[in-house]
Amino acid sequence: MNHAIRGLVLRAGQLGHEVVGFRDGWKGVLEGDTVPLDKTEVDGVHDTGGTMLGTSRTNVFKIEDGPQKVKTSLERLGVDALVGIGGEDTLGVLHKLSELGVPAVGCPKTIDNDLDATEFTIGFDTSINISTTAMDRLHTTARSHHRCLVVEIMGRHAGWMTWYAGIAGGAHAILLPEETIDMERLIRVVKERAGPDGRGYSIIAVSEGAMLGDGEEVLQDKSLDAFGHVKLGGIGKRLAKLIEERTGVESRSVVLGHLQRGGPPSALDRVLSTQFGWYAAELVDAGDYGKMPASRSGRIEVVTLAEAVGRLKVLDPERIRVSNGLWWS
Ligand code: F6P
Repeated sequence: MNHAIRGLVLRAGQLGHEVVGFRDGWKGVLEGDTVPLDKTEVDGVHDTGGTMLGTSRTNVFKIEDGPQKVKTSLERLGVDALVGIGGEDTLGVLHKLSELGVPAVGCPKTIDNDLDATEFTIGFDTSINISTTAMDRLHTTARSHHRCLVVEIMGRHAGWMTWYAGIAGGAHAILLPEETIDMERLIRVVKERAGPDGRGYSIIAVSEGAMLGDGEEVLQDKSLDAFGHVKLGGIGKRLAKLIEERTGVESRSVVLGHLQRGGPPSALDRVLSTQFGWYAAELVDAGDYGKMPASRSGRIEVVTLAEAVGRLKVLDPERIRVSNGLWWS
């Protein structure tokens, strides 16, 4: 996100605009908590992940008079346009505010890559690179100990990260939230890999939102976040136990979790974010609101926020056909 902020601040400055940042996302907007942003402030942020402004899971529409509070806060501060950097939740709020008359522009950011109307979102490339490196390292342990290692990968109800990391990391089965888990095939993979024709170990990539045969999602607990999302987590552990029971192969699980969201961003993410911030500043300058820059066929194009948040972008059957074809058995 820091590169998006930097790109936006640099381009907006060139176009003669003043930029302030809101601390901690929507919380800062509601409370009018700002920090001045100029080219000195954004200098040197290029190798830092996350956001220099902080963030929070605050839902404006879950707060009494939230939208009006946002409008009042912007007016009081003399803010002419609001740029939101985020995924379905943040941009969903931004879109609704835009429909209520707030001059708003978005920047697509989520490691999940599940925002529609853009091929890639900020954070996704970094995340799949971290996951791929983790998979490479897990091959070492699994191979040496003749084990099955189940790697649980974030991404909620879209399997983008598991698909990319599963393929890039040489997984022997890739389990996605777009389909229920084919347990019999999974067991066959682990048994065959442990048998005379196998390599004696297995790596299984599983998305945190992958469902067991009965359509059950595995949850950390029953609570929901401010946007009504369940807290997924635990499918890896559950599968490792089931696999060990049914195959006799010693199995372990690893949850990549928030490791996937940290550290220095990849070069691709840095450049994409800079471009998104840059074009967001130009949209503001043109007064072209309710829009966001998107990545399409290697180019930056402008789409509406309505297109971006209309539906969740999940894996298409063609991609799933490929990852299913890559299973060991
Ligand atoms: O939406 C991004 C994401 O990282 C998901 O992949 C994951 O399920 C969720 O956020 C984790 O949320 P939290 O940081 O609140 O635990």
